[in-house]
Amino acid sequence: MADRQKIIIDTDPGQDDAVAMLLAFGSPELEILGITAVAGNVPLKLTEKNARKICELAGKPETKVFAGAIRPLVRDPVSAEEVHGKTGLDGPDLPEPTMKLQEQYAVDFIVETIMSEKFGTVTLCPLGPLTNIALALIREPKIAKRIRQIVLMGGGFFEGGNVTPAAEFNIFVDPQAADLVFRSGIPIVMMPLDVTHKALTKASRVEKFRKLGTRVGNATADMLEFFELFDERKYGSDGGPLHDPCVIAYLLKPELFSGRECNVAIETGSELTMGMTVIDWWGVTKRPKNALVMHDIDHDGFFDLLVERLGRL
Ligand code: RIB
Ligand code: CA
Repeated sequence: MADRQKIIIDTDPGQDDAVAMLLAFGSPELEILGITAVAGNVPLKLTEKNARKICELAGKPETKVFAGAIRPLVRDPVSAEEVHGKTGLDGPDLPEPTMKLQEQYAVDFIVETIMSEKFGTVTLCPLGPLTNIALALIREPKIAKRIRQIVLMGGGFFEGGNVTPAAEFNIFVDPQAADLVFRSGIPIVMMPLDVTHKALTKASRVEKFRKLGTRVGNATADMLEFFELFDERKYGSDGGPLHDPCVIAYLLKPELFSGRECNVAIETGSELTMGMTVIDWWGVTKRPKNALVMHDIDHDGFFDLLVERLGRL
């Protein structure tokens, strides 16, 4: 097998984060160096616990899970229990984790790993607010040149926002962190709502996870059947957008996605549009193209990949 891609998953589980983690665990092309939890969908004490629950669900209790930022850089914390439930992982009844949380602070783990791994070999996969990533860049600016790429879920353009008319949750929670990351010069691949809203957890797709007949398949179906309720009511759709697994799927099958290099700038001044990702899709400014912004997805191929890989766990 070709060299495995070394990744760190930074996450705020969250049912969609959980499915992204399971996809990574079911994919031998990836070497998960660690999972770093951040406050987001629910507070940090729950996101780190949920990350450990998913590691154990996947049968990977040896995975290193670290706790990171307990709050955004500047703004007051915002969470999303209305979407994910009070545990952040409502749906399945998963046992309390027995694997230990790592002592080391997640931001120190990110810095130490990037500084010790070979130059340009580690991909960061942020699935939540970018607080940990920004703190790592502040703690050790040298990591910016050493990181292979950042593949993140966040933002939106033609699709607008999902927390305000202008802003998507991950960016809205910590716009200052997002601003720092998008100005860092690190190669970024961005999965905005414009992509994830095309990846709907239709009943026929959830059924395929159920039909796996495994603990992972059933837990995934239970997670999705809870997680989709909020968006089905909001959008009147069959199923809800499956955001975070798009990040991992890109690492495995980039051909599932299409987009273009654009300038992405983050609103951090106006309360009206706070956290908006201002994406220059038509190249009307001279601002540098700092991200590969995805716009389309082969959603059938995406769900086929998910079912096949989760079926291996
Ligand atoms: O807006 C969707 C994003 O916010 C997803 O990452 C979801 O898990 C939440 O973190
Ligand atoms: Ca998330």
